[in-house]
Amino acid sequence: MKDLYITIFGATGDLARKKIYKSLYYLYLSKDLENVRILGIGRNLLTNQEYRLLVKNSLINFSSDNIELFLDKFSFLGIDYSNKKSLYDEINNKFAIDSKAYFLFYMAIPPSAFQSSINLIYNLKTELPSSQIKLLIEKPFGEDLETAKHLNEILTECFLEDEIYRVDHYLGKETIQNIIALRFGNSIFEPILNNHYVKSIHIDLFESIGVEDRAEYFDQNGIIKDMFQSHILQIMTMFMMESPVRIEAEFIRDEKYKVLKSLRPIDLNQVKIGQYTANLEQNIKSYVEEDGTPEDSKTETYFEGTIFVDNLRWEGVPVYIRTGKRMSERKAEIRVQFKESFRYFMNYDEECNPKANELVISIQPEEEIYLSINSKIPGKGMCIQPVKLNFTYADSFGKTIDPYTRLIKDAIEGDQKLFVRKDEIEQAWEFVMPLIENKQKLLEKLIYYKACDEDVVF
Ligand SMILES: NC(=O)c1ccc[n+]([C@@H]2O[C@H](COP(=O)([O-])OP(=O)(O)OC[C@H]3O[C@@H](n4cnc5c(N)ncnc54)[C@H](OP(=O)(O)O)[C@@H]3O)[C@@H](O)[C@H]2O)c1
Repeated sequence: MKDLYITIFGATGDLARKKIYKSLYYLYLSKDLENVRILGIGRNLLTNQEYRLLVKNSLINFSSDNIELFLDKFSFLGIDYSNKKSLYDEINNKFAIDSKAYFLFYMAIPPSAFQSSINLIYNLKTELPSSQIKLLIEKPFGEDLETAKHLNEILTECFLEDEIYRVDHYLGKETIQNIIALRFGNSIFEPILNNHYVKSIHIDLFESIGVEDRAEYFDQNGIIKDMFQSHILQIMTMFMMESPVRIEAEFIRDEKYKVLKSLRPIDLNQVKIGQYTANLEQNIKSYVEEDGTPEDSKTETYFEGTIFVDNLRWEGVPVYIRTGKRMSERKAEIRVQFKESFRYFMNYDEECNPKANELVISIQPEEEIYLSINSKIPGKGMCIQPVKLNFTYADSFGKTIDPYTRLIKDAIEGDQKLFVRKDEIEQAWEFVMPLIENKQKLLEKLIYYKACDEDVVF
């Protein structure tokens, strides 16, 4: 096996400490990291010892099995980002690199540093033309259509599309991947998931937390860019795509792209945006009181809109989207509501309350899928109420693999199924642009909602 160098730009940062080191540790424990060196990149020079301590501290809640052996794999490289030769020189001076080495670069840095990092990696690629390179790029991928296109141009000038892995960590979640199995691996669902049977689809992505320590980043973006343009459109395409020719990256991404292309321009009159205010009973600050947000900020922390996929299967089925921070519950789900049937023979009173069937794919807090069906209440004539047929990952399979672990493993193995292609990113931005361009108009109707309050209704 070739020597693998996992090289992390932004090695001292929040994402690396919160997610990446844990995922690498899981992969190490499951013996998926053989012949690996892990190189942390930063602007300041840490000693290897200091760096290993930082990594160790981010694994504080893990058992210490083999942890010292794992830490031995880490080295820190201080890099001058303005000197494009510095990455190659640093690596080459410290390690005897095989000309056919395999590099996985994780760009866990702010977007402002992408260009200079790309230059460094490109230089290394030209110095080692027989090496193999994979580049993982975190979101946000651009801040609008123009900047996303620009970033794609920079990348494609230096790398092939199959070397570029655009990360949307929601795609690494087991329940999202399972949508493919649910839709195309079960003959009972496929015939009914269309506009003949489905009345509406609801996609909710709610967080009970606020902006935490990412206020500056969030304030420049808002929830439309942070959640809707990326996670929600990705979840939506996974659910609404047609059957791919095969379960392979290109075929899946072809189908997701077609869904994005079929989106009807969003009706701005149906869009609502909001920002959370304080909840004094729960001791929660308002958005503008958070550390790092300007006191006059109008950045939206809530978004609601209705979208339509204008194709043969879904034409006329509204997809209601809601996403927000500091909501009263943490929830991410796709809820498919079917048309009602056979109401004429059912009794209606307080106990008898038949509802339209629902198929719910819950991503969090529980990873579960359930179907709500109407069932007769025992001993009560034809009195009917909804009951749940459900499957949970925890009950059937135990623990699931963390999304970052899945994505890093897939990138090492060269599998791009769960990464976003160039055309998908640009199409998603194109769809969202009217919201960005008309932000002032939307802000005229900015709704203020009380943080984490169960009674909030939009
Ligand atoms: N944090 C999350 O939960 C999260 C979630 C999803 C996506 N992301 C994305 O992941 C990336 C990293 O996020 P993060 O929260 O880890 O960011 P961060 O903590 O603000 O920055 C990461 C590291 O990047 C380096 N850095 C900062 N400014 C730089 C510059 N101008 N040039 C070169 N290096 C610079 C710093 O390391 P040195 O000072 O050591 O060089 C810093 O520790 C971002 O693109 C972010 O949007 C983050």
